[in-house]
Amino acid sequence: MISALWILTANSFMQEPVGYALRNGRAEMVDFFALLGNPQLWYEFPHVLFGALLTGSFFVAGISAFKLLRKQQVHLFKSSFQIAIVVGLVSSILVALAGHSQAQHLMETQPMKMAASEAQWETSGESAPWTLFAVIDTDEHKNSGALEIPHLFSILAYNKINGVVPGIHQLQAEYEAKYGPGNYIPPVKTTFWSFRIMVFAGGIMILMALYGTIMTMRNKLEGRRIFLKMMPWAIALPYIANTTGWIMTEVGRQPWIVFGLQKTPDGVSPTVSTGMVWSSFLGFTLVYGILAIVLVYLFIISIRKGPDMGGHGDSSAREPMLYDNQDGKGAEVHA
Ligand code: HEM
Repeated sequence: MISALWILTANSFMQEPVGYALRNGRAEMVDFFALLGNPQLWYEFPHVLFGALLTGSFFVAGISAFKLLRKQQVHLFKSSFQIAIVVGLVSSILVALAGHSQAQHLMETQPMKMAASEAQWETSGESAPWTLFAVIDTDEHKNSGALEIPHLFSILAYNKINGVVPGIHQLQAEYEAKYGPGNYIPPVKTTFWSFRIMVFAGGIMILMALYGTIMTMRNKLEGRRIFLKMMPWAIALPYIANTTGWIMTEVGRQPWIVFGLQKTPDGVSPTVSTGMVWSSFLGFTLVYGILAIVLVYLFIISIRKGPDMGGHGDSSAREPMLYDNQDGKGAEVHA
């Protein structure tokens, strides 16, 4: 949590710079507590934390479902599924609520990011719809084949059915008047689709967690084999949402590296060559790639082995004795 706090404190400065003074063309920190009190931080932090909780809960629920399908350590994995799915339900709802308030904050601080996340070229009428799907033409600045939910963008932005949402063209003119000539439009398709993928993944997780919780409460989980088969695949959903969330946050901020202060091309260090950037990029990718392979391999080994029940030797061999006594219904069978 502390690590997330510091990383997001730095990231929030890039989204909403505070606590600095410009001296000799450099932004110097003058108020550390202003950085910690950055409103952007207190919108981002809960969203990221609930997202992490959701990731953990779907991981545990997915592995538990996998074990339940194979009828391994059933009693144990029923309990772990139950805990994980309830945590998943609560955190999926909280991550959506936190994301909703983040979107409202963005309307005030980075309206261009929100307009791009909707591919909304023109300022809306009295009420703005939320686009489920659209074919975006970034050359002509128009969309076709849009499937829209009426009022939803106004509700997302202002908690009201009606509310005018400024479009990309209007904001471009406003930014030019404020920051000088230039192109202030971020990559619209990437921002639009990353937002949608995150929100759709979040929506699917809410539904799956709700269904899983209801089935667990009714003690019908083991009969829902299709659902149990889907759960291990659903482990990917929070990873997809986290990644697309970051893509939206960072790509949607372009062309700024620090919003309103420094553009991305101006952030390129003159002392670092293209070759150096490539070699560190490839080096990090290689190291993290190897670590990821090792991690997945270790995961697979420990998932196959199952948890250590505290005894000697094969944990699964001891388990029937334990569960015989707990549920009074006889031993669970191991595959
Ligand atoms: C379901 C509804 C969701 C909504 C309305 C929503 C909204 C948002 C918004 C508006 C941003 C951009 C914030 C910014 O640029 O300052 C964002 C970023 C992000 N989202 Fe979501 N989100 C949702 C679901 C999720 C889920 C399910 C996850 C992960 C499990 C997630 C993870 C992230 C991450 C990691 C970021 C980047 C960090 C940040 O800016 O907070 N989001 N989300």
